[in-house]
Amino acid sequence: MMSDYTWFEGIAFPAVGFGKEILEDVRNKFVLKEDDLIILTYPKSGTNWLAETVRLIQTKGDPTWFQSVPIWQRTPWLETDIGYPKLINKEGPRLMNSHLPIHLFPKSLFSSKAKAIYLIRNPRDILVSGYFFWSKAKLGKNPESLGTYFEWFLKGNVPFGSWFEHVRGWLSMREWDNFLVLYYEDMKKDTKGTIKKICEFLGKKLEPDEMDLVLKHSSFQVMKEINMINFSIIGKDVFPNGLNLMRKGTTGDWKKHFTVAQAEAFDKVFQEKMAGFPPGMFPWE
Ligand code: A3P
Repeated sequence: MMSDYTWFEGIAFPAVGFGKEILEDVRNKFVLKEDDLIILTYPKSGTNWLAETVRLIQTKGDPTWFQSVPIWQRTPWLETDIGYPKLINKEGPRLMNSHLPIHLFPKSLFSSKAKAIYLIRNPRDILVSGYFFWSKAKLGKNPESLGTYFEWFLKGNVPFGSWFEHVRGWLSMREWDNFLVLYYEDMKKDTKGTIKKICEFLGKKLEPDEMDLVLKHSSFQVMKEINMINFSIIGKDVFPNGLNLMRKGTTGDWKKHFTVAQAEAFDKVFQEKMAGFPPGMFPWE
């Protein structure tokens, strides 16, 4: 039975697929190249949605590759046992995902011209999404209720540590030219506008018909049906009762799950931990 996580520098990592030696090498040895693009997120922020969107921008809306190769092979996770060797051996421009907090990220980033996109989502929705994900997975501790997971989340005793520290850490990079901050809520409200922002950041241009294809193939409805994207091909050893990563894909689902007391407790912690950011930094507040 899976009892706990893999711990590295005080941060919990899923018990399967993450090794301390690789985490060490990622931080100290991995060299970023200037044509690399990194998608940075705290888990459940919409990582896979953004990764597919970027891939579709790169293919000008052609989804052929998407239907035959699993998402984690097309856009490897830097810090995983599978992703790291893939990335170090890859020639040419690399697209990678990472959930690492800034202090565990490759040091080479800070002297590199590689581009990074940091996607932020309302942590209340992340908490709910994370609860349904981690409680189905044999990747560490399974919360027996949302209330239990709520307590763990506020303390940062969940995979990849505290949301508050993750966001605070990465937002320290927000003035860098090669760093783009996006919000899940904006992607929902104005998907086309967000795609244009990404194109501008990457120096790419889409024709109107290509834009339509990107919009279509990155939509929740389409992504939910594709086995290579929706995580349904992951084995029973990890998800004994199966999983579809595309659970709801909405904003504000937390309102259906939090009690009034939980909502108040969350607000209080949010205000304490995120004090000092300029107005508008967190559009849902
Ligand atoms: P919910 O559990 O709230 O539905 P990640 O990729 O970081 O693990 O994030 C998963 C969350 O992103 C899930 O949230 C999932 O439904 C949502 N998501 C994935 N693809 C999406 C899409 N195309 N549009 C909107 N939300 C999407």
